[in-house]
Amino acid sequence: MTSTAETAPVPWESHVGRGVHLYVDGRRYIDCASGTFNLSLGYALPEVTDALHAQLDRCAHLSSELTRPKSQEIFGLLRPFLPDHIESHWFRDLTGSTANECAVRIAQKATGRTDVVSLFLSHHGQSITATGMSGNAFRQRSFTLPFAGSLKIPAPDCANCFYRQTPHSCGMLCARRLEDFVEFASSGRVAALIVEPVLGNGGNITPPAGYFSVLREICDRHGILVIADEVQTGFGRTGTFFASTGFAKDLKPDIITFAKGAGGVGIPVAGVLMRKELDVLEPWEHSTTSGANPLALVALEATVKYIRDHDVLDNVALASKLLKDGLTELAADFGSVGAVKGVGLMLGFDLPSAAAVARFIAIARENGLIVRGSRYGFGNTVKVRPALTVSEDEVQDILHTLRTSLEQLESE
Ligand SMILES: Cc1ncc(COP(=O)(O)O)c(C=O)c1O
Repeated sequence: MTSTAETAPVPWESHVGRGVHLYVDGRRYIDCASGTFNLSLGYALPEVTDALHAQLDRCAHLSSELTRPKSQEIFGLLRPFLPDHIESHWFRDLTGSTANECAVRIAQKATGRTDVVSLFLSHHGQSITATGMSGNAFRQRSFTLPFAGSLKIPAPDCANCFYRQTPHSCGMLCARRLEDFVEFASSGRVAALIVEPVLGNGGNITPPAGYFSVLREICDRHGILVIADEVQTGFGRTGTFFASTGFAKDLKPDIITFAKGAGGVGIPVAGVLMRKELDVLEPWEHSTTSGANPLALVALEATVKYIRDHDVLDNVALASKLLKDGLTELAADFGSVGAVKGVGLMLGFDLPSAAAVARFIAIARENGLIVRGSRYGFGNTVKVRPALTVSEDEVQDILHTLRTSLEQLESE
């Protein structure tokens, strides 16, 4: 067995999180990656943990027939934040990977077709199916992936355009060529296109204006369903509750998947949202015995209520502006900082190479700031994604430490 994971030489109990801060053996870090982007509301928010403690004392497990009414109630809370045409749900998952598998099952069953189109540089999870759909070889090469009906098309990565075009000259080739792939690279039975509104792991790639409507128009013409993988972008991360009602609204997805931030303080919970006519699965066709467990549902409910009742989306707008302006200033001041990209609190900036990113992450960690890179694709993006509850002062702290760390990087 080979492992690249570093084991923290500190006792387990010495990891304590509060808000955007993680304390490791008493040392304080600002966690600007929100764990692995799971902590939408930061560490240990009392409004969520109190509800979890109370539920733990009642019961941690119930069979799914007993949890169904609670799922329905939570879907009711989510409805005002969804596109109008999304009227059904399937809350039987704990991970984004299996939620995406559920979406594929729905699409296949509803259309009677097989294939799924995804994007280069995409990440849809690590189950066999989700790995097969993801657009990068490094997680695939050691395995036989039996999901044959998956094909990939170039991503809307203007900084590294597959077609060697510029945004002014390209005529949105990356979207328009979908039609050629359907005709010449598929089995002719394409059930769905799956898209991350921002390609998070691929390097925080934010598609240009107009991209989503071109995809939607082609999918409509070919009877292809659109799945929005909102595992990273959902629950307020891009400034609206789902990207599909905000900057990616032209995608008009038929199915939306969510996970990660849905558990607020890191509790695993995932789900699928869809058009009413896509509510086609029988209860035994997609579920796990731990899916929709009471702790997951209580975390989900408390998270939706907190975002709704505490102006979290307004805070994202405010913090996003401060952070983006600050990052843009850093880009002006440091030659090594390239494009600043992203929306809401899903921001990032490029450094010259993957090696520079790795070194920068290590320097920032020494300075008390946790940021993550992008192992996928070109690997030269630093992702900046604090909890959605981050305060103005904390944003200033983040910017200050980024500046200090960039000074160190450039002086080496
Ligand atoms: C966009 C996206 N989809 C799906 C997944 C898979 O989610 P999980 O790790 O919960 O299985 C991830 C995880 O990083 C993701 O970023």
